[in-house]
Amino acid sequence: AHLVVAIDGPSGSGKSTVARRVAAALGLRYLDTGAMYRAVTWWALERGVDLADTERVAQLARELRLEQGLDPEIETLSVDGADIAAAIRTSRISAAVSAVATNLGVRAELVARQQAVARAGGVVIEGRDITTVVAPDAPVRVLLTADEQVRLSRRALEVHGSADADAVDATRDQVVRRDADDSTVASFQQAADGVDVVDSSLLSLDETVAAVLKLVEA
Ligand code: CDP
Repeated sequence: AHLVVAIDGPSGSGKSTVARRVAAALGLRYLDTGAMYRAVTWWALERGVDLADTERVAQLARELRLEQGLDPEIETLSVDGADIAAAIRTSRISAAVSAVATNLGVRAELVARQQAVARAGGVVIEGRDITTVVAPDAPVRVLLTADEQVRLSRRALEVHGSADADAVDATRDQVVRRDADDSTVASFQQAADGVDVVDSSLLSLDETVAAVLKLVEA
């Protein structure tokens, strides 16, 4: 199938899990574009490159030999043969990734790679600018949202294994600040023309997946 499903949403909206589940249900491939920004960040820090040196970081992005699996059931990600699937999820990377994501040279390179996957089709692509920049012509475009409180508890549960007050506080800085930093490049909290909004605040995971699948069938 040449179907492309584009899904955007902020941190903690559940978009990665939902996008994987939708891809698996439809027999499509799955591209996590956030993992690509994280991989560039990991590589730059690994090489001791100053993230403020935008030219140098953009150059690294162009040179990055990233191998990213597109199977929605198994995440595989490596650079020059080294498995970095776990390394890109650390708080060190989460704290630094916005500095790389706001680098326009990096975005140009990663968007081009993502568009190559979109052109091949048969894929669910998930990120911040997929409905607007990477695949604005995709037949299905979804903005997945959730109230900030809900997103914070989900992320706290994911990162700290608990959604009590301390865990939510520990998560707040990262999520809220990253939303603010990210919004300078993509207004991902507002749906562009023709993009369907699914608010998952009051929905279970299954219900959210069902809502997106319904938009695919429509
Ligand atoms: O894990 P979370 O959903 O919070 O983020 P992610 O999807 O792993 O993306 C990590 C970061 O990459 C985001 O905070 C953005 O700064 C950046 N990003 C982007 O700029 N454009 C995309 N299409 C995807 C991610």
